[in-house]
Amino acid sequence: MDMEPTVDVRLTEADLRDALCTDVLLGLSGRRKWLPSKWFYDGQGSKLFEAITELPEYYPTRTERALLRAGADEIAIAASGAAELVELGSGSSEKTRLLLSSLSEHGSLRSYVPLDVSEFALRAAVGWINEEFPRLEIHGVVGDFMSRLDSLPRCGPRIVVLLGGTLGNLVPAERAEFFGRMYDVLEPGEQLMLGVGLVTDPAVMVPAYDDAAGVTAEFNRNILQVVNNRLGADFEPDRFAHVAVWDADNEWIEMRLEATADMTVTIADLDLVIEFAAGEQMRTEISAKFRLTPFHGELAAAGFRPQRCWTDPADRFAVVLARR
Ligand code: SAH
Ligand code: AVI
Repeated sequence: MDMEPTVDVRLTEADLRDALCTDVLLGLSGRRKWLPSKWFYDGQGSKLFEAITELPEYYPTRTERALLRAGADEIAIAASGAAELVELGSGSSEKTRLLLSSLSEHGSLRSYVPLDVSEFALRAAVGWINEEFPRLEIHGVVGDFMSRLDSLPRCGPRIVVLLGGTLGNLVPAERAEFFGRMYDVLEPGEQLMLGVGLVTDPAVMVPAYDDAAGVTAEFNRNILQVVNNRLGADFEPDRFAHVAVWDADNEWIEMRLEATADMTVTIADLDLVIEFAAGEQMRTEISAKFRLTPFHGELAAAGFRPQRCWTDPADRFAVVLARR
């Protein structure tokens, strides 16, 4: 029998507004300004991210898609016990189609639980997946994958996936917290699949975050528009320049917004006035790239047993499967 999909909104607009207030107070009132990258993703941010995935310079999406396609049969065998696929930061779920097909055709997959902060992206994904996979139970969740995940729908053994390199958007302390939460939420024997960018030539990595068409710049500036829309701020996004640099010490790409002039910004809903000096930079994202041996060590230290790993011929991206 075909199933009706559900969407459970665990983060309302009011919740998002409260969380953004906290992050803006924390990130913009100190000396070194920063904002968490999850605030990129309102409807417009999700559309801009999809446009990024089509750019010639942005290799992660197409590389990961090729790995998932080429490894489909092996993945289906390695994860054949999974009855439920939980996808964190699912976005458009576009590449997940490959996992859903192989795990439902060759395995015992019955249910898909996509979870994302972007209600816009989540609802669009739930709609098309339901048309393409009418027999799959789909329970979308609008939520934050850094919050408690112990009450997600569950219909049997799970595989939790975090694709696209999104793990790299967490600072190391958040990453450790994430692994800890995954360890707590999964049962022994359940699986975690991670798509991560690998350290490669900066001449390849930096243009992926600073494309010639300026789409990533627009995506970066959109975070200011989100603060304007949600908190009544008066940022002028066009007066901030997009910056993307490779931080070789931390092995991450850092995206920043640089004030092109002295500016005073008012955040009406917080009664907050923020000064920017010309040239001052605010961090909006880190995108960590990994080396496989230490990454497997990090997983093992968190209680996961790395099982399989698929990499592309140029070693730019890896899909890693681990067991709790
Ligand atoms: N997995 C997709 C999308 C990657 S973009 C892909 O591989 O192409 C990152 C996605 O994670 C966005 O859809 C964003 O809304 C979501 N996201 C970012 N931080 C999040 C968080 N803390 N909780 C839930 N979703 C988050
Ligand atoms: C979602 N995340 C993994 C992307 C990345 O590559 O870090 C977001 C992004 N930022 C700029 N371009 C893409």
